[in-house]
Amino acid sequence: MSDELNDLALELRRHLAWQESDGTRTILRGPKPLVAAPTKAPAPAAAQNVPMPEPRPVPTGPVKTLDEIRQELGDCKRCKLCHGRTQIVFGSGNPKAELVFVGEAPGADEDQQGVPFVGAAGQLLTKMIEAMKFSRDTVYICNVAKCRPPNNRNPEPDEIAACEPFLKAQLATLQPKVIVALGKFAAQTLLRDSTPITRLRGQWRSYEGVPLMPTFHPAYLLRSPSEKKLAWLDLQQVMKRFESP
Ligand code: URA
Repeated sequence: MSDELNDLALELRRHLAWQESDGTRTILRGPKPLVAAPTKAPAPAAAQNVPMPEPRPVPTGPVKTLDEIRQELGDCKRCKLCHGRTQIVFGSGNPKAELVFVGEAPGADEDQQGVPFVGAAGQLLTKMIEAMKFSRDTVYICNVAKCRPPNNRNPEPDEIAACEPFLKAQLATLQPKVIVALGKFAAQTLLRDSTPITRLRGQWRSYEGVPLMPTFHPAYLLRSPSEKKLAWLDLQQVMKRFESP
């Protein structure tokens, strides 16, 4: 097989590995591809000319470690989500991650285990990460809201606002090369842009100088598997950033 065909086959295999999770696809069988380690990303993309609301206060002072940020969060009672949570879900993964995924809020499984994205949507996210040639240990995963909203309702503006300084602090500490915003709440909160996720997705944006790719939330992809094709296009753009010199 030519190099070009080989590359195409590898890419297809990675894609189908997580596309198949809805049962509508058949995995390509065969030897696992040998994959290269991700390399440096290029300079940040310029932000697009979309009107932005007033920025909310950014934590000031020296950049803290993730442990210090977690300590500052403490047994948080800054919003009403504290009443229904089992535990705070701060974030997990590599503190030196070059790639960070930001989701919405913990669900029941995450609330029980204290780890983001461990339920059904989390399993799909893990497949997406692996299809991108990363692993959960090499990336960092966190959420806009750190406590589970009751009955998995959407996080409300006051809850997002109460948690946002901690998300900002996490991202300031991590200083990733790329952020992937999973779904409307992550994308709209980080970008201060109320454009629907259907229009935000797939377009490079900038968060505090860091290239940010908005894409669909894995929970949405579980409900609408036909949209996985578009999400994969978005993730491929992210992969390209790590592949180019
Ligand atoms: N959905 C999210 O947005 N975050 C989680 O941690 C789990 C599900």
